[in-house]
Amino acid sequence: MTKLFPDGLSFSGYNTPSRIECDIYDLEVEGDVPPDLNGRWYRSGPDPQYPPYLGDDIYVNGDGMISMFNFENGHVDFKMRYIQTERWKAERAARRSLYGKYRNPWTDKPEVAGKSRGTANTAPIWHAGRLLVLKEDHVPMAVDPDTLATLGDFTWNGQLKSKTVTAHPKIDPVTGELLLFSYECEGDGSSPMCFLIEDKSGNLVKEEWFDPPYVGMVHDFAITTDYVIFPIFPTTMDPERLKAGGDHWKWDGSLPSWVGIMPRAGSTTDIRWFKVPTSCGFHVINGFNEGTIVHLDMMISKRNGFPYIGDIAGSAADPQDGVPYPTRWSFDMTSNAVDGGFSSKSLAPYGGELPLIDPRCVGRDYRYAYISMVDPERRILMAGPTYMGANMIGKIDLTTGEVQTYHGTDETSFQEGAFIPRGPGEDEGWYINIADRHDQNRSDLLIFDARAISEGPLATARLPIRLRSAFHTTWVPGV
Ligand SMILES: [Fe+2]
Repeated sequence: MTKLFPDGLSFSGYNTPSRIECDIYDLEVEGDVPPDLNGRWYRSGPDPQYPPYLGDDIYVNGDGMISMFNFENGHVDFKMRYIQTERWKAERAARRSLYGKYRNPWTDKPEVAGKSRGTANTAPIWHAGRLLVLKEDHVPMAVDPDTLATLGDFTWNGQLKSKTVTAHPKIDPVTGELLLFSYECEGDGSSPMCFLIEDKSGNLVKEEWFDPPYVGMVHDFAITTDYVIFPIFPTTMDPERLKAGGDHWKWDGSLPSWVGIMPRAGSTTDIRWFKVPTSCGFHVINGFNEGTIVHLDMMISKRNGFPYIGDIAGSAADPQDGVPYPTRWSFDMTSNAVDGGFSSKSLAPYGGELPLIDPRCVGRDYRYAYISMVDPERRILMAGPTYMGANMIGKIDLTTGEVQTYHGTDETSFQEGAFIPRGPGEDEGWYINIADRHDQNRSDLLIFDARAISEGPLATARLPIRLRSAFHTTWVPGV
């Protein structure tokens, strides 16, 4: 018998832990799943195995759960499994939670001192024939792509020196390389960052360490054909605070943001750091460069929007300041200014998160972005890590500024979707996402023609269970 989960927003309503591992063969489908839509959609998210022994916890600290939709000749099958991390195995054996606060090993039970704290709960990535699940405070975990069985820590046969790897690597669609970075490379409470490259065959061919302007959360980065972009925002870590049992992260609005830009042909010693206004960003939409003009398209808010990341000065936040908007930041690499000739431009009037693009456009000029958005004129339901579920899917046309939208019912929120290429056109393909049916305590998989999202889904695959909000997803084409 385990104790009840607490009543907090991370554990109630649509965020109630599911703890379900299952196989569902041939989901019920309304409409027709396109028969040429073949492949697998992997999703990663947190799903706590046991209630937190400290009494409450934050959404992002849950054990990693991976799920897979298998699309095959018009049929869709579903599978979901826990990632069996060292932490998951220790707590399963003890039948209770043993780990304390998010990214603070000084709050753990003595019996797990020194053991791995990785949860593998953030993002799946498919590259060089491997399925890895990533969480930015740990090394990747390898997972069997067919059974979803956990294969263990992945360190390129021990070659990796960093103890952490980002959950947001980028695959260059032309070179086939996987570009990655790490922060807090020596583990929680440390300061170095590094830049990594896995070549198209799966070999780790570069690991270069460097020091950021300050130690802040670096959740995502961008690549272009000629540059790598590291945005640093003042959601800051203090090792002394950690040792005293405090929170890993605090927002420090007294600090500027910084953007480090490195030529891909160079090394981390060539990074130029540009000082830009205080702001917060988690997810990159894309990056590209026109000669020496470098563009970073990113979801940007005025300050950190996570309700459980406190302000270092203790000041109350305006929730509106935490809403991220799609924004283009541009820099001129020939500028000698401290901000690199920085300019900022809004890309759409709606806030949201979890942006995605056609994967064939990563690092290149592009036209379309898909974002799980929040329409403030409609009902907003509690779901996911910020407790503010997206109530609209938006497709932005960056050429015309038009935003094509799809709303669900007043009882529906959305998660992170995926774009699946079909033909050569940038939006010639399908867009898929999960609809959270709050009134039915279950979920649907929606399949759209990406060119006509506002017309509604071509097909809806019904799940008899609720899929707790995942963080990130990846599509692996079938053969
Ligand atoms: Fe993320």
